[in-house]
Amino acid sequence: MTSAALQAHGERVLPVSSDSVNPPIATSGGRTQLPLASHNPNRKKVLFVTSEIADLVKTGGLGDVSAALPRALAHLHDVRVLIPGYPQVLNSDNPIHIVGELGGHAALPPCKIGRMDMPDGLVVYVLICPELYAREGTPYGANNGRDWPDNHIRFARLGLAAADIAANLAQIHWCPDLVHAHDWPAGLAPAYMHWRGQRTPTLFTIHNLAYQGVVSLASCPELGIPPHALQQEGMEFYGKLSFLKAGMAYASHITTVSATYAREITTPAFGCGLDGFLASKTEQGLLSGIPNGIDESWEASTDPHLVSPFSIGDWAGKAANAAHVRELFGLEPSDGPLFAVVSRLVYQKGLDLTEGVAQFIVDSGGQIAIIGRGEPEEEQAMRALAQRFPGRVGVRIGFNETDARRMFAGSDFLLMPSRYEPCGLSQMYAQRFGSLPVARNTGGLADTIENGVTGFLFDESSIPSYTEALQRAFKVFAYPALLNAMRCRAMAAPFNWCQAVEPYAELYEQLVAKAQGHVGRP
Ligand code: ADP
Ligand code: GLC
Repeated sequence: MTSAALQAHGERVLPVSSDSVNPPIATSGGRTQLPLASHNPNRKKVLFVTSEIADLVKTGGLGDVSAALPRALAHLHDVRVLIPGYPQVLNSDNPIHIVGELGGHAALPPCKIGRMDMPDGLVVYVLICPELYAREGTPYGANNGRDWPDNHIRFARLGLAAADIAANLAQIHWCPDLVHAHDWPAGLAPAYMHWRGQRTPTLFTIHNLAYQGVVSLASCPELGIPPHALQQEGMEFYGKLSFLKAGMAYASHITTVSATYAREITTPAFGCGLDGFLASKTEQGLLSGIPNGIDESWEASTDPHLVSPFSIGDWAGKAANAAHVRELFGLEPSDGPLFAVVSRLVYQKGLDLTEGVAQFIVDSGGQIAIIGRGEPEEEQAMRALAQRFPGRVGVRIGFNETDARRMFAGSDFLLMPSRYEPCGLSQMYAQRFGSLPVARNTGGLADTIENGVTGFLFDESSIPSYTEALQRAFKVFAYPALLNAMRCRAMAAPFNWCQAVEPYAELYEQLVAKAQGHVGRP
């Protein structure tokens, strides 16, 4: 159904804000069709439950992964995506056909299920419930950064819709063998399925443990949560309800997005109050780390977003992107190094540390270009930084895929001093485009950056530790042969979805086999 048709049916469809939809990524641009999974004798039907998909709406890496992973798995399994019908989804160019309806439960309203076929064949089920999702803003809140007060209802409805589809209640003529839920917005999918005694296995992937979807116990009746769920082994979290813990507590298996983060979250420093719970899941063999990859659109010689394409050894094209970025960010022409920040502007990303080293970078002849949006205080701090160093630091609050790609392509270094980083995609994008990350030695950054070979790692979340890594970066910049050798190694690093496809595909098969009583645990 098109958005005009939806309006004719009395559904409210809001205009899309200009910066909220990214141009389609190359994999979804309709140039190639997804391969059919029919030749795999173990082919499973998998419902991929997520709150973002980069083709339509994204606020960070979850959207990228939701767009890329189902496609990367398509030759082995029939993976279909379930996402709420935000305006950015309903107003996309792809037609939506209503294929099913679901009744309400407790305070969760009835809804319709629409089917959207992406140009390359990826099937996206859209949860159509205008009273919950037809709002201008991000998937989680208004454009002023405030979360929607009824997010618990909005995302409980998403979880329940997944459970309903798995129970064949939606009658969409497709019933998954497995439900794969992502982050707290999808956390109640495994929970409702468990409470209702559904036998379909579930996989829950943690992309970020710090966002937990914690609400008051008083919400139990609205969400239809049974009293026995309020235990430590259930979704109770320090006297409240945690959507994230529900996902972890009731899923058949848990993954997170890098091996190092899988270990870190079992320690008090990274566990966000759930380290004991996660350590026990690890001991039971129920938690594993599978690193994210990047898709084939990240290719500097063919990316249509770039001002000029380039490849290993051909640095003139890279310089053309750098000149464009300098102009876009109001930076002076310079022969010094260009540092990029492409980030959600939130505490996790350690932007205060970049504020702390900006004087050093500028005094050493460097420039910084910053793009992103996020918490109002962080946005203000970045604006102030640009005012402090006119012509040397430039900032654009907002997000735009084309500018982001040009920044990865044009910069010499990417600044990523994250306090924690479950996987991180930006450092892989930067490397692929010959920009060397200067990053904290944590989580997926530790797993994807070779210190002194493809980037620069530092251990402490402190200005001296960060500065020491920057000094090494400046030294390398002064020796073009060394800089170019590192760029070549970074651009050739084998980041792709192949390494993730096999572990996910095997996990799907093992979880289904186990649920059917065929084998032991994965
Ligand atoms: P995270 O998911 O924690 O933001 P990642 O490095 O995994 O970090 O993913 C970042 C992805 O999100 C990249 O595609 C990046 O270009 C994009 N991105 C960064 N900042 C924003 C933003 N403010 N809004 C939308 N996308 C963003
Ligand atoms: C989260 C994490 C990031 C990860 C992304 C995709 O947003 O912060 O590290 O790369 O999810 O898994």
